[in-house]
Amino acid sequence: PSALRSRDVTVPRVACSGGAPGGVTALPAQAQGLPAPVTSATRMEANRHVLYILRDADGRGAPKGAVIGFLKVGYKKLFLLDRNGAHNEAEPLCVLDFYIHESLQRHGYGRELFQHMLQSERVEPWRLAVDRPSEKLLAFLRKHYGLADAIPQVNNFVIFEGFFSNRPGEFRGGDKEGGGSTG
Ligand SMILES: CC(C)(COP(=O)(O)OP(=O)(O)OC[C@H]1O[C@@H](n2cnc3c(N)ncnc32)[C@H](O)[C@@H]1OP(=O)(O)O)[C@@H](O)C(=O)NCCC(=O)NCCS
Repeated sequence: PSALRSRDVTVPRVACSGGAPGGVTALPAQAQGLPAPVTSATRMEANRHVLYILRDADGRGAPKGAVIGFLKVGYKKLFLLDRNGAHNEAEPLCVLDFYIHESLQRHGYGRELFQHMLQSERVEPWRLAVDRPSEKLLAFLRKHYGLADAIPQVNNFVIFEGFFSNRPGEFRGGDKEGGGSTG
């Protein structure tokens, strides 16, 4: 496919409470700024799931608004083991679903989408828990964020070194646009 030059990230802040029977929830197309429903996500409960959608805004070489990929995150209460094997209750932001269209993988779109999510959620990458990451996603996290040192868990989530620490803001180097809105 020809290069998709112009993208934008649609951020529907839709709390999907109570899916349809069978656990499938389709976000309203209007909420996503898309011509048709794009996601059917299982069990999007009322727990602050956010779906980020990367789409081709001007439609060069693809239908206008064509979806390049999506990333779903949400906060979950988890029991997580630290390096000493002690249980810790935490409620991290979890990466739940992440997909870039087959034909567009390894073009940097995943990173663009992930980066947008990190900034929007104001979260450091090592504070994330990742639900059953694929080998591709593990490679992605290693490459772009240096996340290589997983702390073994007994559930399906993967967390990395630094999750429990007060790691200094080495990720903050860029432009974390501060809100600075108090009161
Ligand atoms: C994982 C995924 C979202 C990454 O998005 P992306 O746009 O391909 O990633 P980027 O182009 O920003 O980054 C590329 C890096 O991701 C990793 N990666 C992407 N595709 C890969 C593949 N087929 N094999 C191994 N690593 C891969 C590599 O680290 C790669 O760097 P490299 O090309 O130098 O090896 C995408 O590959 C994808 O949708 N894969 C299929 C679905 C999936 O596994 N989702 C995760 C579910 S848990």
